[in-house]
Amino acid sequence: MEGSSIKALASLLLGLVVGFSLASKCIMPRSREMHKTVHRTSGGHCVFDKEERTQKDISGGLLLQPQDKELLTAVNNVPRTSNFIFIGVMTAQKYLKNRATAAHRTWAQTVPGRVQFFSSEGSDTSLPLPVVPLKNVDDSYPPQKKSFMMLKYMHDHYLDQYEWFMRVDDDIYIQTERLESFLRSLNSSRAVLLGQTGTGAQNELGTLALEPGENFCMGGPGVVMSREVLRQMAPHIGQCLREMHTHHEDVELGRCVRRFAGVQCVWSYEMQQLFYQNYEPGNKGFIQDLSNSKLYNAITLHPNKSPPHQYRLHSYMLGRKISELHHRTIRLHREILRMSNLTNAEPCREDLQPGATACFKDLRPRQRQDVREWDFFTGAHLYPSADWYQPRRALCGPLKAALDDIILQVMETLNANGKARDYVVDFKRILYGYHRVEAPHGAEYILDLLLLYRRLKGASVPVHVRRHAYLLQAFSRTLFREESNIKFTQLEDKTDQVSGPITYVHKSLGRLSPFRLSDSSSDFRHGLATVNILVPLSGRYEVFIRFMDNFEKVCLASKQPVKLLVLLFSAENDVESERGGAECFRYTELVSEYHRKYPWADIAVQPVAGPFSRGRALHVGSSHFSNNSLLFFCDVDLLFRADFLKRCRHNAILGEQAYFPVIFSQFDPKVMDRGRARDNQYVFTTKTGLWRHHGFGIVCVYKVDLVRAGGFDISIQGWGLEDVDLFNKLIRTGTRVFRSADPGIVHMHHPVVCDPQLDAERYKMCLGSRASSYADTLHLAQLWLEKNQQDFHWTNITQTHVD
Ligand SMILES: *[C@@H]1O[C@H](CO)[C@@H](O)[C@H](O)[C@H]1NC(C)=O
Ligand SMILES: *[C@@H]1O[C@H](CO)[C@@H](O)[C@H](O)[C@H]1NC(C)=O
Ligand SMILES: *[C@@H]1O[C@H](CO)[C@@H](O)[C@H](O)[C@H]1NC(C)=O
Ligand SMILES: *[C@@H]1O[C@H](CO)[C@@H](O)[C@H](O)[C@H]1NC(C)=O
Repeated sequence: MEGSSIKALASLLLGLVVGFSLASKCIMPRSREMHKTVHRTSGGHCVFDKEERTQKDISGGLLLQPQDKELLTAVNNVPRTSNFIFIGVMTAQKYLKNRATAAHRTWAQTVPGRVQFFSSEGSDTSLPLPVVPLKNVDDSYPPQKKSFMMLKYMHDHYLDQYEWFMRVDDDIYIQTERLESFLRSLNSSRAVLLGQTGTGAQNELGTLALEPGENFCMGGPGVVMSREVLRQMAPHIGQCLREMHTHHEDVELGRCVRRFAGVQCVWSYEMQQLFYQNYEPGNKGFIQDLSNSKLYNAITLHPNKSPPHQYRLHSYMLGRKISELHHRTIRLHREILRMSNLTNAEPCREDLQPGATACFKDLRPRQRQDVREWDFFTGAHLYPSADWYQPRRALCGPLKAALDDIILQVMETLNANGKARDYVVDFKRILYGYHRVEAPHGAEYILDLLLLYRRLKGASVPVHVRRHAYLLQAFSRTLFREESNIKFTQLEDKTDQVSGPITYVHKSLGRLSPFRLSDSSSDFRHGLATVNILVPLSGRYEVFIRFMDNFEKVCLASKQPVKLLVLLFSAENDVESERGGAECFRYTELVSEYHRKYPWADIAVQPVAGPFSRGRALHVGSSHFSNNSLLFFCDVDLLFRADFLKRCRHNAILGEQAYFPVIFSQFDPKVMDRGRARDNQYVFTTKTGLWRHHGFGIVCVYKVDLVRAGGFDISIQGWGLEDVDLFNKLIRTGTRVFRSADPGIVHMHHPVVCDPQLDAERYKMCLGSRASSYADTLHLAQLWLEKNQQDFHWTNITQTHVD
């Protein structure tokens, strides 16, 4: 990589403006609008960027590039009655109410000219749409006749009124400003045919009756012709219709133009981007991925068949335009400030706040409490600081969308400089990043990006480079928006709210559509499923008492539909032996007590012979159940609440899905709470424990899915591995595994006993594991320092860390 491109990166100048929706009653007065633009500066300097100062080609560095000028012209002398272009949309009676209406209400509104919809003879013209029912034309496919008759209609009625004519389908989206500025750079008095150039697919070679070097404009992304083309071709349309070689409407149109206007579709690689045909894998006939720079650079987008997606795309494009305009107002405010400085005039108050240049340096905290924490994320996961990085969660929702947008803008900035210098930068992925939002600064991002540099000329190997981007997205004016499709579902029961709100947002539209966690009908559907709780047990009578106590409170007292099966290993490996029998008796005695108290309760103790093996216990236990039983492989150290049982029922789906909750594992209460008993075990902070993202032992699964997976590997002895084995087997046999941090279940601390008989290495590992169960490293360090350095100040550490 050469120096200039590094510099281009270093001077990553970004002005991102975003509208934040604040649910607040107050409407900010104009003077308090918060606009700020910030850029990454090298060496902490926060002066205006050099390039900006010299006024060099920075106009809209980010969003508005060459078309800046055109846009300005368009805004200034809005020629709404413009006779620039006539767009004929081919549609059909059955699409008038949906596709055609969506097109009419979105992009068609800003066309500098006229848009009409061409349908079959007798089509409904009562709709508020400019529909032209073409005589002697039906809605059959392929629509050669409709296409040619539409062109004839355009010729007969409008030839002298418009400079350009365009033939499109009803599932297209057009960025009309781009279309206009592009066409204005061409001479419509000459015969020009534009569109995405095609020569036929591999399997059509030779069937399209095309000579080598002949092409056609593909119909989907739209075909534009100058008035001259239409003038020369139209008188021969009858002949073209009679002498067709194929059933392809676009191929025949191209042939007719070539024959009678003497031109064919322009050969230009760029047309593929301008007339964009979505070939993305998983293309479902509509445009899903909005944060795609391909969309943004295109003039036409095709196909976008579903009207909701059409409106969504339009709304997205309008949103981008709003932020472009915001960005430009900020630049103007800055310009005003700079001018008033040069002329020694007092700057106007209105310009001060929006025109100010902000940078990270201004935000440097002075004290510990000023330090605003960052959320850390990788390409896939978010580790929110509010919960001390726990539990990690999937990177999705608004943050994902915001990142997609930011990357798009960063890449546009990089490539804007690049084209002149003969290189292209491709985005590969985010390696990691930090993010925080705070008033009044806005949203800040630090991104570590993996990019790919390609030189456009000469033979050189593309280079992977890592670059940091420091971005600040300023707040703009308060924005209010009505959301209709959002449903908030509180998972917790009212009584369980102590553990803090865990709220899931359900969005019915858009690509962020998580599965539905719970709705009013789900209780009805899942309410009847009995949860069969299987608990392997070996010794540990005291812990079992605690378990049964919790079981009584959660299940028996409220008559939950559950069944408990305790799988009991005898201490002496032999149930028949005297001591083993006595041991076993204590457990059955305890269970009998509960039976006396709750005669209807379904609790059983099943002795299991042999040395302890969790897999074998669960294997033996599950053999008692029928295929459609819901099994919950539990552990005697766990406490759970009713809401967990609800999720167990809900997230395990017969024949489809198994639920592996991510469990919160408590630290030693003796260390952090100094032995005080906790009232509430469901407190999830870094001080109280950690989420075991790599534990797979606890699962809710239907028996039939277990059988299909091949059951447990009963050759595994002792604790461990049988869970991972089952997890893998379920995936392999096509059962979906669902994993989520579950706030309704908690693993109580129990001391790790390390056998000194172990070999040195494993003993050391065991001690390490024991230490990690005391408390988290940060707090252990704090405890140690408190003990060893009386005069030590905790703030000093954090301060050093931050600086
Ligand atoms: C446009 O093309 C026509 C016909 O070729 C030509 O006479 C005219 O000068 C051109 N106009 C411009 C501005 O180039
Ligand atoms: C203009 O800017 C310079 C340097 O940033 C500053 O020292 C000076 O006070 C400013 N003048 C006015 C009138 O604000
Ligand atoms: C249970 O399901 C398994 C796997 O689908 C099947 O082989 C077995 O026959 C079923 N058992 C009963 C009793 O239906
Ligand atoms: C760091 O600790 C020292 C005492 O060891 C204290 O005097 C000083 O103020 C502390 N610094 C900060 C920034 O808190």
